[in-house]
Amino acid sequence: AERTFIAIKPDGVQRGLIADIIARFERKGYKLVAVKILVPTKEFAGKHYAEHEGRPFFEGLTDFLSSGPVLAMVWEGQGVVTYGRKMIGATKPLESAPGTIRGDFGIQVGRNIIHGSDSPDSAKKEIGLWFTPEDLVSYGLDIHKWVYEK
Ligand code: GTP
Ligand code: MG
Repeated sequence: AERTFIAIKPDGVQRGLIADIIARFERKGYKLVAVKILVPTKEFAGKHYAEHEGRPFFEGLTDFLSSGPVLAMVWEGQGVVTYGRKMIGATKPLESAPGTIRGDFGIQVGRNIIHGSDSPDSAKKEIGLWFTPEDLVSYGLDIHKWVYEK
């Protein structure tokens, strides 16, 4: 099954958005298969955002991600990588549509609440960085017969 890595950044945790964000993915029909809360080190934040190393915002970004607790999650379901990004909204919250997480809760790009993998490849890498295989729980959801045709 398709999986994506989603992280509520320190601003989202501090602003009390954990339950709202989890509820959006849950009500969509996606399945939570791993979750933990942790304060990443700056080095770890740099690994997570390695693709942005050298960009002017890299220092601020990795300082910010390591500044407090992050809620790291793996969500599973059909289309979850691409649709998860749609639910999150555009990188800049003022360009995110209303109804998206960043559109509803954010203003500045450096405080945009949440991260989501941008491709199945990134998802695989990020899940491997943040979780061990044993952290991922395999289980059936009885509601899935009401979410999926088969
Ligand atoms: P993530 O889901 O966090 O990876 O965001 P994204 O995929 O929508 O955007 P991208 O990967 O391009 O950038 C990663 C993060 O770097 C963004 O979420 C922002 O927090 C931050 N960022 C990106 N561009 C800028 C910028 O121009 N200025 C600042 N201050 N931060 C930026
Ligand atoms: Mg990104």
